[in-house]
Amino acid sequence: MTLTVLSLFDGISCGQVALQRLGIDCVYYASEVDKYAINVTRTNFPNTIHIGDVRKVRYIRHTKQLVCDTGVYDVGDIDLLIGGSPCQGFSRGNYQSKDTDFEHSQSQLIYEYERIRNEVRPRYMLLENVSMKQSCVDIISDLMSATHGVKFHKVNSSKYVCQHRIRLYWTNIPFNPDKPVQTEYPLTLKELIGDGYEGVLMRKFSKYGGDDADQFVPDRPLAQTITKNKYKGNTAYRFNGKKTHFTIEQMEQLQTLPVGYTEPAGSETQRSYCLGNCWTVSVIEDILRGMLP
Ligand SMILES: C[S@@+](CC[C@H](N)C(=O)[O-])C[C@H]1O[C@@H](n2cnc3c(N)ncnc32)[C@H](O)[C@@H]1O
Repeated sequence: MTLTVLSLFDGISCGQVALQRLGIDCVYYASEVDKYAINVTRTNFPNTIHIGDVRKVRYIRHTKQLVCDTGVYDVGDIDLLIGGSPCQGFSRGNYQSKDTDFEHSQSQLIYEYERIRNEVRPRYMLLENVSMKQSCVDIISDLMSATHGVKFHKVNSSKYVCQHRIRLYWTNIPFNPDKPVQTEYPLTLKELIGDGYEGVLMRKFSKYGGDDADQFVPDRPLAQTITKNKYKGNTAYRFNGKKTHFTIEQMEQLQTLPVGYTEPAGSETQRSYCLGNCWTVSVIEDILRGMLP
């Protein structure tokens, strides 16, 4: 089958990696503004149609056209709408910002997803975001309930790979998070790193600003949620008695991406930024699997 897919906040196109792994052909329209992320997508998926800023994207129902900053496209019906809007406002790691929840300018972008979903009325939809206050979850669940059959799922990537990463998903694709289909990715850090692995150095983010000191947790099987900044984030562990950081390639594996996938982003800083932002592909793959006949 060939699907027409509209991906908002496409990042490094993890949705496209998941679709490819499921053997689903697609015409893929990607809205993204970060040039490093776009470079990653362009290299890995040269057929992607890049449509720029989500705020400029309109779907005209009677002509079945996408009107964007980059042009007008005769797309027909859109089968699948996916996206995870920027999460800084919702994220519990964002203690230092005064703007929280829906007031944060980045959180407002979720309303662009909502607007476009109403314009498109896709057959299938998937919205992802970070763990957040129940009152915010309720608001989003209420918005999403306009699509028939949308269910809310809270999934930890640790079911698929050795990373603790809780994310929220709203989708009308049939999905049972209690029965994850296993991937070939390592489920323990010992498997990922090898025999010298002794345990992680955990960082706790303080609500008063700054980080608490590393706390050694021996033999912890899971990495903490990887974030955008490799050296300030959750990437330290002890290897043969020494403090060590995950390599970019290990971070790629923690997001169940092919090793080397983010190389086109260039520097380690940019690759780390993309990886902290992106989806764990195996989770998305398992959700999208529900579209298969
Ligand atoms: C949480 S990340 C999504 C990452 C993506 N799911 C992935 O797997 O890589 C949010 C993305 O929204 C993008 N973004 C921010 N403002 C945008 C806008 N106005 N239009 C399109 N994308 C935007 C950011 O650059 C970022 O890549």
